[in-house]
Amino acid sequence: MEEKESSNPLPPLTLRSHHPDSEKQITLQVPVINGGMGVGITGPALASAITNEGGGGVLTGVVLGYPFQRILGKYTDKKPYEANQLALEEWIITSKEKCNGGFVGVNIMVALSDFKELAHVSAKSGVDLIVAGAGLPMALPEIVNKFPDTMIAPIISSVKAARIMTKKWLAKGRAPDALIYESIHHSGGHQGGSIDDILEGRHKPSEVVSATRKLLDDQGLEDVPVIAAGGVWDKKDIEEVLSWGAQGVQMASRFLLTMEAGLEFGGIHMFKKLFMENDIPTILERSPAGLPSRAIETPFSKRFAAIDNEVINEPHECPSVCLVSCDKKKSIYCILDHLTEALKGNLEKGLYFAGSNVGKPGIHKSILPVRELMDYLKNGEPVDAKAAAGAHVA
Ligand SMILES: Cc1cc2nc3c(=O)[nH]c(=O)nc-3n(C[C@H](O)[C@H](O)[C@H](O)COP(=O)(O)O)c2cc1C
Repeated sequence: MEEKESSNPLPPLTLRSHHPDSEKQITLQVPVINGGMGVGITGPALASAITNEGGGGVLTGVVLGYPFQRILGKYTDKKPYEANQLALEEWIITSKEKCNGGFVGVNIMVALSDFKELAHVSAKSGVDLIVAGAGLPMALPEIVNKFPDTMIAPIISSVKAARIMTKKWLAKGRAPDALIYESIHHSGGHQGGSIDDILEGRHKPSEVVSATRKLLDDQGLEDVPVIAAGGVWDKKDIEEVLSWGAQGVQMASRFLLTMEAGLEFGGIHMFKKLFMENDIPTILERSPAGLPSRAIETPFSKRFAAIDNEVINEPHECPSVCLVSCDKKKSIYCILDHLTEALKGNLEKGLYFAGSNVGKPGIHKSILPVRELMDYLKNGEPVDAKAAAGAHVA
C-alpha cells in the first residue's frame, strides 16, 4: 500500500543570529536537525546529506582526535587537544564542501576540558550553529563573540535550565539563537537530569516545551525557536512535538540507522546491527561525566547500570583528559575508550548509547539512505513500511 501518514507539509525552521553585529538568518525547509552523536558517528557524510535534503546537519565535535588517531591513524604526532581541533576543522571544511556551503552545525559538550578551544575552532572554521550540552554553556557568548554569524544554542532539559540560560545570556547582551530541549525520558547518551527525575517522571516533554516557548515569548524572544529532542521517530512524532509549541525537532537515534551514519569510521555496522536487533528496553548506566546516560543493554552497560547495581571501578589509563568532571584514573571507567570501542564494533567492550525508541517493541526500523528517511519525515511513510505499534512521545 502506498498510503502516507499525513499530507500536511511541515513548516520551515528559521534560525537567526542574535549577535548585535549580525543579520545572519538561515531557513531550513524541513524543521529537522540531527543530534550530535559522539564519538565520531555524526560526520560529514551524514551532516551534509541531511542539509542537502532540506534539514540541518550537525557534526559531533566531541573528542574527535582520539578516534582519528586510533582508527584512522591521522594526526598521530599531535597532542590530544590539538588533534581534536584539527579533526573538527577538517570535518567542518569537508561538510561545507559536500553541501555547497549550506548549513553545518557542531555539537560540543560543555563538560569537555577543551570546550572553549573547540567552540573557537568551530566558529573560526565557519560553522553556522554551535549546539552545546552536558552542562550549561554560560561562557559561550564570550568565546565566539568575534564571530557574529556563528549562531549558538544551549541544550536544556528543564524549564529551570531554560530560564537560567536565557537570563544569564541576556545579561551579557546576547539572546540564544535557539534552545534545544532534550527529554531526559527519551534521549540517547547523557541526560540533563538525575535518576530520580527520570524515575519520577519529572520534566514531561510536552510541559517543558510549551513552558519554554512561553518563557521565550514573555521575554520578547518570539524569533528564538525551541527545537525538541528525544523520542522523535517519524512525521507524526514531529507534528506532535510541534503542536506543543516547538518550531523544530532534533533527532539522533533514527539517523544512526542511515547508510551515511559513521561512514568515516567504516560504517559502524555493529552499532546499526544492535539498533536493528535490540528488542528490550534501553538502560540507564553511569557515566564518568557524573550523569546518567541511556544506552543499549550490553555486557558493558549492564556492569555500570545506574539502578540496583554495585559498581566496581575498571582500572584504566586516561588517554586524553577529555572530561572536566572525570577524576582521571580514579573514575569508574574511561568513557572515551569505551565509546571508541563501540565505533570499532567491539560488542564486549563498546558503550552503545541509544534513545528509548531503540528499545520499543514494534517500532519500524530499517537502514535507509538519508534521502529516503528525509522523504519519510517530510511526507510520511507508506503504511506497510510501519510496524503496527507506533513509537510516539509520551
Ligand atoms: C549514539 C548517541 C550518541 C550521542 N552523543 C551525544 C553527544 O555527544 N552530545 C550530545 O549533546 N548528545 C548526544 N546524544 C544525544 C542526541 O544528540 C539526541 O539529542 C538524543 O539522542 C535525541 O533522542 P533520539 O535519539 O530519541 O532522537 C547522543 C545520542 C546517541 C543515540
